[in-house]
Amino acid sequence: MFHDPALYAQEAVRVFSGWRFLCCADQVPRSGVWGRRNTPGGEVRFAQEGGRLRALQEGAPRPVAWLGRLAFVHAGEEAPERSLEDALGEALPLARSLGAAVAECLLEVRMSLGANWKLVVSGAIEDYHLPVVHAATVNPYRLEPARPVLFAGGHSVYTAPARVGRLLRALHGALAGEPSEERFTNLLLYPNLLLIRLWGLVHVTVFEPRGPARTLRRTRIYAPSLPGARRPLQRALGAFLRLGILRAAHEDRRAVEEAHAGTLAAREALRGPAHAEEARVEHFLAETAARVRCAQSSAAPPPRGRAGRGGCPRAAE
Ligand SMILES: [Fe+2]
Repeated sequence: MFHDPALYAQEAVRVFSGWRFLCCADQVPRSGVWGRRNTPGGEVRFAQEGGRLRALQEGAPRPVAWLGRLAFVHAGEEAPERSLEDALGEALPLARSLGAAVAECLLEVRMSLGANWKLVVSGAIEDYHLPVVHAATVNPYRLEPARPVLFAGGHSVYTAPARVGRLLRALHGALAGEPSEERFTNLLLYPNLLLIRLWGLVHVTVFEPRGPARTLRRTRIYAPSLPGARRPLQRALGAFLRLGILRAAHEDRRAVEEAHAGTLAAREALRGPAHAEEARVEHFLAETAARVRCAQSSAAPPPRGRAGRGGCPRAAE
């Protein structure tokens, strides 16, 4: 499931066929200029016309919807069966709250990973790798294991206390411009958009599949309000934040690339890597399996375990 090019081609059609993340409001180009976004289903071009966001794929218009300051595009040419709100379901209130807090982009980090997109997402939504992979960087702030909540459609969230030292607290407070809750929130909007809220800042990460064994990670970090007089301070402090983010991202990349190679070496194993033992990851992989099974022939074996709980009626049957 992490290496098969035929499965990857099916995922491009089945998994990325509904609503998917397009861009944040500040990434919409000025009027008359087209932006581009590569997706597994093809290139999407987008621009604003008459104050409205317009998206094209293969020359044909595609439906667009906003969630706060996050824009989503639908792969189909026709009006979608389900609105973006319906597709997000129980995840909608939290997603809306985070989408509204995407105001001022402080920095962007891009990283190419030599691993399948499902492994990369898996590693980003569980927390038990922290003591092993981030022993000196992130793990000191992990006070207790996360308590995941699973929503229909493959979406899921976990929150955990995030008490940090005075220095980091002051850094984040100065960047965000307001005091913030001492909690870490990690929300996956299926299939590949990760929203994190930590110390008043919102991290918007999209994991873009670039082939069976290649994923591009783009993370943009936002303050919830425009900076005004804080802008020079934000620029200076943002450089420190970037170093910390890059250090943790490199740690994740090493682990996930090793996991990718490991799944190739043990293809006959019944289960994949340890990632699949965690509830949120199992939920995410089951949704993907359910959608891909929709594209397979009726001779395919019936879904096992929790597969079929998501948005694919035929798989659920
Ligand atoms: Fe990590």
